[in-house]
Amino acid sequence: MSTNQSLKPLTLQVNQQGNLEIGGCDLIELAQEYGTPLYVLDEKTIRSVCNDYKDAFKNYPKVNMMYASKALCTSAVSVLLASEGFGFDVVSAGEIYTVYNAGIDMSKVLFNGNNKSVDELTLAIELGVGRISVDNFFELSLLNEIAKSHNKVADILLRITPGIECHTHEYIQTGHLDSKFGFDLTQIDEAVELILEQYKNLKLHGLHAHIGSQIFATTIYADEIEILIKEIARLDEKYSLKLDEINVGGGLGVKYTENDIPPSTYDIAEKIITSLNKNIEKYNITPPALFIEPGRSIISTAGVTLYTLGSSKQVPHGKKYFAVDGGMADNARPSMYGAEYTAQIVNKPDAQNLQTVTIAGRFCESGDILIKNIALPEIDEGDILCVYNTGAYNYSMASNYNRVLKPAMVLVNEGKAELIVKRETLDDIVAHDIIPQRLKK
Ligand code: LLP
Repeated sequence: MSTNQSLKPLTLQVNQQGNLEIGGCDLIELAQEYGTPLYVLDEKTIRSVCNDYKDAFKNYPKVNMMYASKALCTSAVSVLLASEGFGFDVVSAGEIYTVYNAGIDMSKVLFNGNNKSVDELTLAIELGVGRISVDNFFELSLLNEIAKSHNKVADILLRITPGIECHTHEYIQTGHLDSKFGFDLTQIDEAVELILEQYKNLKLHGLHAHIGSQIFATTIYADEIEILIKEIARLDEKYSLKLDEINVGGGLGVKYTENDIPPSTYDIAEKIITSLNKNIEKYNITPPALFIEPGRSIISTAGVTLYTLGSSKQVPHGKKYFAVDGGMADNARPSMYGAEYTAQIVNKPDAQNLQTVTIAGRFCESGDILIKNIALPEIDEGDILCVYNTGAYNYSMASNYNRVLKPAMVLVNEGKAELIVKRETLDDIVAHDIIPQRLKK
């Protein structure tokens, strides 16, 4: 078993007060001290996933672990993952600046994205981002110009669409043929010729693909790797081009509910390494350095969100709703993807589940339902609900819908809780507003 296969943070337990605790911190006390909704991250769980990844991939000689920051990007999380030896896959100026400002070695940063702006590419070049994965012809030319104007050579990968369908939510698939991401296989030669003949300020190191997210079927990685290695061998034969890097993206799934059985980090590593070795031999290439860029599987399990339960409503002959003080603005995934979550009441972990209820969010939208039909004990107003596996794509996709303040985040470890993201204030909400003078009385 690896950490991504756990539904709950590894340190979760019921304490002597009869409450749930994580990282040795009583969740009721955290809710009282920091308020709700509150994102809680368990340091031990994060470090444990990192160790799983490092251990699982130790038999391939050249592995670079890049954390996909889009899953959860904060300064403290960046420093923590860097301390585990991870580099970073970033996708915006905001993410580049976060890791830079946190003191991360920029040579271990890879910049991805299908429409990077001039300002973002310029920032990447100026801050010395290690690799830029170029997505399309427009960007090739733009990046060459920017690198030239800075008297630099940009180190790049080419983002490829390998033409693989993966069975996950339609919106999270990226590697299939009709995708907005990357060069089609039939466009690679033209891109390579441009780089070799015209774009002298670009240095191509390898190929990059990402086939999707919340992936459970690991064999798909073997197919992806064969396509990438076959291309590397073909480019060598046709252009005498030695590409020595292969980036297989992220995607490993996690366990949101008891019904989810994600593969382990070891399964996925075994599939990837076996396929690499097999295809290196089959296509007779020098073993390339492997880059992987997991996001969700690194950070999801470590995170929970605490909410306070408030109003309730029994629809005559219908559902029973309980509303929490957060919802779609701090966790967009249920309303966006129909994502399912598991939860428990912090102060009643051992009580019998006596009812099936629906947990509604507080936002002005009927679709703002956090969890449909969950079995829970009797609920009292003010009880604290702990929703599991919210570390990835919750805070990072949070909004201020209804002008609601974004929650705070604490990192817990060995009985200590540390604030790593402050709760927004009402002043933050109006901080960017401007009232034109002429409208003022
Ligand atoms: N690399 C690339 C190029 C990606 O596009 C992504 C995710 C990753 C790595 C990391 O994938 P992961 O290991 O996290 O699956 N908001 C959606 C997920 C979108 C994923 C986008 N790309 C969700 O909440 O499910």
